[in-house]
This record gives sequence, C-alpha cells and structure tokens, in this order.
Amino acid sequence: MDPLDDLFEFLRFPSVSADSQFTRQVEACADWLVGRLLKAGLQAGKRATPGHPVVIAQNEHRPGRKTVLIYGHYDVQPADPLELWATPPFEPVVKGDKIFARGATDNKGQILAHVLGVESAIKERGDVPVNLVFVIEGEEEVGSPNLVAFLKDNKAECSADVVAISDTGMIAPGVPTFTYGLRGILCLEIRLRGPSVDLHSGIFGGSVANPATVLSRLIARLHDDSGRVAIPGFYDRVLPLNEWERELWAHLPSTESAWLATTGSPRLSGEAGYSFLEQVWARPTAEVNGIGSGYQGEGSKTIIPSRATAKLSFRLVPDQDPHELRPLIDNFFKEECPDSVEMELIAQHEGKPYLVKPDSPFAKAAQKALADAFEKPVAFIREGGSIPITQSFKEVLGIDTLLLGLALPDCKAHSPNENFSIENFKAGIRLNRKLLERISEM
Ligand code: BES
Ligand code: MN
Repeated sequence: MDPLDDLFEFLRFPSVSADSQFTRQVEACADWLVGRLLKAGLQAGKRATPGHPVVIAQNEHRPGRKTVLIYGHYDVQPADPLELWATPPFEPVVKGDKIFARGATDNKGQILAHVLGVESAIKERGDVPVNLVFVIEGEEEVGSPNLVAFLKDNKAECSADVVAISDTGMIAPGVPTFTYGLRGILCLEIRLRGPSVDLHSGIFGGSVANPATVLSRLIARLHDDSGRVAIPGFYDRVLPLNEWERELWAHLPSTESAWLATTGSPRLSGEAGYSFLEQVWARPTAEVNGIGSGYQGEGSKTIIPSRATAKLSFRLVPDQDPHELRPLIDNFFKEECPDSVEMELIAQHEGKPYLVKPDSPFAKAAQKALADAFEKPVAFIREGGSIPITQSFKEVLGIDTLLLGLALPDCKAHSPNENFSIENFKAGIRLNRKLLERISEM
C-alpha cells in the first residue's frame, strides 16, 4: 500500500479529543492505529484511561540493546471554523506537495512516518536495531490529563533510554531541525457575573457594573505598554537567554517578513527588546484564547450583559513553574477585579517548559540522523509550542526527549487548512530508520 493511502485512512477519523461528540471516533481511530501497528509487525494494544485510550506497541525486546520510546498523539484539535476550510477537514486531499486535513501535521502525519519507518525496517531486516516502545496518546491536545498516571502505572513497560518525538517544526523547508526547548503552558477560564439577567441598558445603564467592560479592563491590565506581562512576580524565575542562542538564532533561515507573511497580521507586535524568535521561543506570554459576552447577533440590542467569560493561556519558559504561577495569577485577578461583579477563576490544564542539552550523546545521534535524512546541516532551535509530557518523561522515567520535528512554518496546525508536506512525510520515514540505527550504534 502507498504510504499516503495509510495516512489518508488515519486522517479520515475526526479524532477531536476536546469535544465529547467525537468520543466514538477517537476510539475508532485508536482501534485503526492498533491494527496498523500490528500490521507493521509489532505487538500492539489499546489501553483504557479515564479519558481517551493510549495506544502502545513494542517489538520483541532483547537485552543489550538501547530502548527508544517513540511518542506521538492520534487526537486532533477541533476543526472549526469549518467555513474557512477550502476542503472538508476530515476528507484529506493532495494539492501540490501537500496533504490537507485536520491532524495532517499535528500529529498524524508525523507519528505515522515513524510507524512506517519501523515497518520498512522490519520488512527488510526482520527487526529494528533497538528495543522499541510506541506510546501514542489520544489526549495531547487537551493537555494529556491521564498520561502521567499511565506512565507511572506502566513504568516497566514504558521504561526506555530516550524518547523521540516528531511533533515540532522545521525552521524552513528542507532544513533539518533539532529542537532543544519548548514552552510550558497554564490555562484558565475567567467568568464574571453582574446582574442576574441581561438588563435594559437604558433603564439600568450607569447604575450597575457591566461584566463585559470589567472583563476588558482586567484583560487590558495583563500587559504593560512595553508588552510585558504585568502580573507581579511573573518573570521571577525566567532564565535569561544565553548569548550563544541569541547569536545562533539571529542567523537562522527565518526572516521577520516571512514570519509576518505566515501570520497574516498587519505587523508584528510583542515584548520590546526581543526579536520575534526570541519572543516566541524564550519569553513567556499571556494570551486571550477566547472571549464572550452579550449580544453577538445581527443589528443592535441595548443590554447590559449578565455575564462575561474569557479563556486565557500563559506560555511559560524555563524555569517558570505553573504550580508557582497559578496563585500569582489568581491573586492578580482577585486584586484587580472590583466587587461590583462576581468572579470565578477555573483552573484548566498546565504543563512545564522543557529544555535539554543540545550536545548529549543521544542528541548527537539524533542530529546525525537528521542531517542524513535531509542531507543538510542541522538547525538548532527552541519552539513556542508546548508538549508538557516531555518534562514528565524526565520526571517519571528519568529520560531526555529528542524533538525531531517535521512541521513546516506554513503547516497551519490548529488553523483551517492544516497541511503536511509529502516530502517531509517521506523524509520522516527515512529519519526514523536512521535515528534507530544511529542510536543502536552508540
Ligand atoms: N505539536 C504541538 C506542539 C508544538 C507546536 C510544539 C509547535 C512546537 C511547535 C502540540 O500538538 C500542541 O499543540 N500542544 C499544545 C499543548 C497544550 C494543549 C497542552 C499547545 O502547544 O498548545
Ligand atoms: Mn497541537
């Protein structure tokens, strides 16, 4: 079967972890994946969790070999807004060198490249040269709420010498990229309640607080005029950028104008004193992910809304710790919020940032594999996205993670028209084989 046909099948499952209306399709996707891993010549199974199942697979382990845990996720982000997709999100199509579908890059295409790399080695040589464990979860996009417990409960089965993940980006097409840092994350929802129902804004306006106005003021106070987060203590644990990183990043094949074009924004904007890559890779942020209040329909409606809500996320950098920041953030809102509205803060998922030494023996083996697979020198980057489980691999299993991303800057992960480069899909299959070979030679 053409590797693309496999990817098409995988992409047709709307395995949206965030939305319970897709629960059965998430399960069906896990079943398909188990079948595909078995077909590749591995032992494979689906493990129940309180949420969506974890799929695990192994070859026959032999003493004396290195053990590699390959992690990925089969769940995807919600596809909305649907009207902005040129073709339906769960009906993959090829246009040029790209395959378009929700999850094409993040993470089905990238994890399937590893599965197919392993399969090709098994077909040719009977086995891969290392002991292998695949851990492919169905809840990455909702913060992996059950994976740490899964790792703890299945520690013997998951024990390994190193983790490999392809779920990050490449700095530019054709440039093999080794990612040595990720941001952490802290999410929360803020709910304000003013009057018990929406009120006539003429009869009552001026005499009670408007929750939408209060929420806007709270959100506006999150940043100062230089773009820094204004929460007291927020930066206390932020490690300054290393000089060698500033120097290295200044010469990466990534320009401000290309970055701007990818975003489609009128201009770039962020914390003063840092380049756009520094802002994204090494500085923390506060973002509004969603905001809602009052009348959104056609025409006008003169009310004071009863409620206002916003979903916020904070991206964190080493050595910030979400457990430490949570009370600082909560206190900030409690102090800033007037008692003319009632406020509720709802803690959502969180995850620590990640930083590894880019020159460990495992990292060097990974870099050789990257350079071989793409036939180019390797770029060293950090990323602004989060894969919180990387830090848990360190804390629970005591091992480092190698981040070997295959996503291109315009892959539109989490956006409409997500796509994956077919060239990178094929390079990912080569990369997997070279990676396992290089690690087996260590
Ligand atoms: N693949 C991404 C993480 C990523 C994206 C890393 C870009 C580096 C560059 C992953 O699937 C993801 O989206 N993670 C979430 C984590 C969150 C839900 C805990 C994220 O970063 O928003
Ligand atoms: Mn994602």
